[in-house]
Amino acid sequence: MTTIAVTAAGRSYPVVVGEGVMAKVGDHVPPETQTIAVLTQQAVMDSGAIDALRQALDSFEVPGRPVTCHWLLMGEGESAKTLGTVGDLAGQMARLGMHRGDLLVAAGGGVVTDVGGFLASIYHRGIRFVNVATTLLAQVDAAVGGKTGVNLPEGKNLAGTFWHPLAVLCDIRALESLPDAECRSGMGELAKYAFLGAGDLRGIPLEEQVARAVAVKAEIVSSDERELSGRRMVLNYGHTLGHALEGAALARSGEGVTGPGMRHGEGPGMRHGEGVAIGIVFAARLAAHLARIGDERRAFHEDLIASFGLPTEIPRGSSASELVTYMRRDKKAGRTLTFVLDGPQGPEAVGDVPESVVMEVLLSVGCEP
Ligand code: GLY
Repeated sequence: MTTIAVTAAGRSYPVVVGEGVMAKVGDHVPPETQTIAVLTQQAVMDSGAIDALRQALDSFEVPGRPVTCHWLLMGEGESAKTLGTVGDLAGQMARLGMHRGDLLVAAGGGVVTDVGGFLASIYHRGIRFVNVATTLLAQVDAAVGGKTGVNLPEGKNLAGTFWHPLAVLCDIRALESLPDAECRSGMGELAKYAFLGAGDLRGIPLEEQVARAVAVKAEIVSSDERELSGRRMVLNYGHTLGHALEGAALARSGEGVTGPGMRHGEGPGMRHGEGVAIGIVFAARLAAHLARIGDERRAFHEDLIASFGLPTEIPRGSSASELVTYMRRDKKAGRTLTFVLDGPQGPEAVGDVPESVVMEVLLSVGCEP
């Protein structure tokens, strides 16, 4: 078991990574708690991923005082990540008589931890919550770092808050029940950390990979909680093209951003982690084109991403101009194209990347005009 501290909003909180750590949820329940609401999804319950959490909370006791635990269910996928869902859940919490001293536990993947964190941040102007992350993607990214939010019809994660949990529990045992495709998607976010200071993550146990990734994220969040200095932006390595690929795949499928069938951060045709993986390789090519890195470093990117079983190439038939249009819309783009690009000091946010250069590199890797 590894415990990593995140320092943000004037306090430190633990991210606990290890086998069976969700059974210790009681260690993170504040003594004054009277009601615990656990937000999850039916599929997470059915998968068995949170059986240990259920056991721990159903038998949880504070000497001399009753604590009641209620289970709240939300819908599956990005289509459930809405203001409407948050309103319904807040109503249920009000009917349970929950007050500011009570606790929310968000148990699931990124959809649940994003919604749970947002709900906790607004209910009674903010209550405490604990994240129990059950997917690889949530463990190495979504559940850690205090970003919460929901989608609007106009785009993903457009409404949200910074609201940090009391603790994040990353139970490696929960990952055993993950479908392969979901695991691969998480691998894209995990592999990203190899370029952000976690070292070569290949060939080490999954628990250590997750702990190393979380340690990098914790350090970055602690140094730039609100993404003000630009440091936190490096967590978006590979995301500029990744989001564009997801957007283009969604548009082809005819679904909106909150269309059915989507899970955390993914469109029907392009899983988030796969888009990030392709985006990282593309960012390395762009960095090499701009002479920020040499060919050996570029090749290392391709090699590492491929050895995680992730795609490295932009899907055949993709349109360069369509992808650039999506990149312009990215909420992190600002007025010009911004990429996280590797360089002599490692990856950093680089603004004002000329569209003509991006087009040139897209065309050189086989995109259609
Ligand atoms: N997912 C990127 C961040 O937490 O900043």
